[in-house]
Amino acid sequence: MAELTVDIAGLRLQNPFILASGIWGETGATLARALRAGAGAVVTKSIGVAPRAGYANPTIVEVPAGFINAMGLPNPGIDAYKEELEEALKPGKPVIGSVFGANAREFCALARKMEGYGVHALELNLSCPHAQGYGAQLGQDPDITKRITASVKAAVKIPVFVKLTPNVSSIATIGKAAEAGGADAVAAINTLKGMAIELELCRPVLSHGSGGYSGPGIKPVGVACVYDLFGAVKIPIIGMGGISSGEDAAEYLMAGATALQVGSIVYKKRDRTFTHLSRELSHFLSSHHYKSARALTGKAHGRS
Ligand code: SIN
Repeated sequence: MAELTVDIAGLRLQNPFILASGIWGETGATLARALRAGAGAVVTKSIGVAPRAGYANPTIVEVPAGFINAMGLPNPGIDAYKEELEEALKPGKPVIGSVFGANAREFCALARKMEGYGVHALELNLSCPHAQGYGAQLGQDPDITKRITASVKAAVKIPVFVKLTPNVSSIATIGKAAEAGGADAVAAINTLKGMAIELELCRPVLSHGSGGYSGPGIKPVGVACVYDLFGAVKIPIIGMGGISSGEDAAEYLMAGATALQVGSIVYKKRDRTFTHLSRELSHFLSSHHYKSARALTGKAHGRS
């Protein structure tokens, strides 16, 4: 049996598959459920300084090869999230706290609280494609990315991951900025900006208009971003975007990922997601005579 265990910035994962932010992440019970169902780790819903209702419905629409969502960063606020994390931490596996803020001060306050609640690492959401004043509006700028990352790094001791947007001309430039700010890893990619039009109503389907496209349709974009990042940064890369099979996972690992996040597939496979992906990746590794998932990282770069 090939070895699926991976290490990322000091965190040991039983397998490379991490539940992505925003998927089952609003309650501790569902995060714990994903961990008990075999996730290597989970990322919480992105949490802000105050409760936020998010956008009006419709907030998600199924489109060919995926979904477009614009939830609007709904969350209960950092103070109310403490008890959810108590639940999420019960299975004893890595929990990564995702936070979003409007500036470095907010990110630092959120990071300190998340650390105090016991999360094992942080993921900075500098990549949501549809939230005024947050997410990609900060993370498309390398200087802001570096500044926020450096501030959070100075504020906490746990590893800090930065989730990057693909909606930029060079994700490598933003990845390097995160690395220069001291990031322990980058996660790529968040969703691609997209839109669906309701033909009978002559207007966008989602109440917000545009949203973020996820699912199998964005996999080639994600793989290319991870490939570019691998050539640009020395820190580990967490790959994501449309992973729904062991072969998809192998592609991301070969492009340069050390660990992987999954989202849209969970809507189809639900609790079976993680055992399904682990089994398929394991089969790919054994049938291609690889001893471990680790052995695949960066293989497509022809360096070894
Ligand atoms: C949302 O809450 O609208 C999605 C968050 C994200 O894409 O980062």
